Amino acid sequence: MKDIVINTPLQKSTVHCGDGTFEKYAPGLPKKKLFVVTDSNVFAWYRQEIWRIFGDNVPVYIIPAGETSKNMRYLTAILREMLNHGMMRNCTVVAFGGGVVGDIAGLAASLYMRGVHLVQIPTTLLAQVDSSVGGKTAIDFDGVKNVIGSFYQPEEVIADPRFLKTLPDREIRCGLGEIIKYGALDGTIYNLLIQNIGNLRSHGFLEEITYHCIKHKADVVTEDEHDLNGRRKTLNLGHTTGHALELCYGKKSHGECVLIGMYYELYIAVKLNICGKSYAERLKALITAVIKKIPYYDDIANAAELARFDKKNIDSDVSLIVPESEGRSAEIKLPMDKYVELLVECSALLKEGK
Ligand code: NAD
Ligand code: GLY
Repeated sequence: MKDIVINTPLQKSTVHCGDGTFEKYAPGLPKKKLFVVTDSNVFAWYRQEIWRIFGDNVPVYIIPAGETSKNMRYLTAILREMLNHGMMRNCTVVAFGGGVVGDIAGLAASLYMRGVHLVQIPTTLLAQVDSSVGGKTAIDFDGVKNVIGSFYQPEEVIADPRFLKTLPDREIRCGLGEIIKYGALDGTIYNLLIQNIGNLRSHGFLEEITYHCIKHKADVVTEDEHDLNGRRKTLNLGHTTGHALELCYGKKSHGECVLIGMYYELYIAVKLNICGKSYAERLKALITAVIKKIPYYDDIANAAELARFDKKNIDSDVSLIVPESEGRSAEIKLPMDKYVELLVECSALLKEGK
C-alpha cells in the first residue's frame, strides 16, 4: 500500500494505491454524510461490500452501466436524489465504479451547493490508472463527448486492485491501452512494461504499474492542473487518431483504440524522423502484446476527417502527441492531407501483413 499526494492550489488530493486500501480507508469515511454513486454492473458485484462498509442505510444512486448514462438526465437525477436525501455542504459523494461513474459523480459533487466533498473509488483498470486521478469531470451532451464538465479534485482516491478480479478481459485491455501510453511518456513505466511483456495481466504487475502510472499523472497534474501549459496535453499521446477511430468505427474499447491510434501515429513519427526505428519497434511489441493484430481500414480517410475536431488543434492542422525517445514525447502538427496520406500508407502496409 502506498500513498501519492497531489497538491493543487485549492485541494490536497491523496491517492491510496494497492491491495487492502479499500478495507483500510473506506470505513473511515463519515458514514452519516455519504452519498454513493455507482452503476448497475458494479452494484450487482459489490452491493454487499457497499452496505458492509458504508452501512445498509447509505443512499446509493445507481446509473445504468455504460457510456450512454454519462448525460444530463442522470446528472440531474443524481443532484435531485442528493437534495431528496437532505445532503448538506458537508456531505461526501463517493464515486464507486469505472470512469463513467467517476466523471458524472465528480461533476455532481462539483455542482451541488457549489461543491461538496468527493472521494473516488475506481473499480476499472482505466479508472485506477487515469480517470479517477486529476480532477477532470464531465458528461456528454448533444452527441459531443465530455463537453460539459469541470476541474474538481477528489479529496481521496482509493485505488484497490481487488476490484480488477471481476473485470472482463476487454476492460483489462482497455486499461492496458492507457498504461502503454504512460510507457511512452515515462522511462520507469516503459522499462517495467518491457521487463514484464509476457506478464502484463498478472495481479502483482497491475498493482505495481498502477502505482507508477498514478505517480506520473500526479506529477503532470501538479504542474498543469487545468491543461494550460502543454504538460497535461502529453497524456493525450495516441489519442488524436485513437479518438477518431473510436468515433468512426466504435467496435473496440477506448483503450484499444488508443493503442491502435498509437501504432498508426508511431508510423507517422518514424516516417517524419521524430522517433527512432528500434524504439518504435519496441513500443509496437508492447502494443501487439495487448492487441495481436492491428486492424487496417480501407476507408481510414473518413476516420481521419474526425481528427479535425480534436481539442488539441488550434487551426486547420492536426495535432498529435507522439513518442520521440524513451520517456520523451513531442507534439507535431500536420496538414490534414499529409496526415491522411500517412495513415493510408500505414493501413495499406498492415493490409499486406507488413
Ligand atoms: P466504464 O465506467 O463504463 O466501465 C466499463 C465497464 O466495466 C462497465 O460496464 C462497468 O459497469 C464495468 N465495471 C466497472 N467496474 C467493474 C468491476 N470491478 N467488475 C466488473 N465490471 C465492472 O468505463 P471506464 O473504461 O472505466 O471509463 C471510461 C470513461 O472514463 C469514459 O466516459 C471516458 O470519457 C472517461 N475518462 C475520463 C478521464 C478523466 O480524466 N476524467 C480519463 C479517461 C477516461
Ligand atoms: N486523461 C487525460 C487527462 O486527465 O488529462
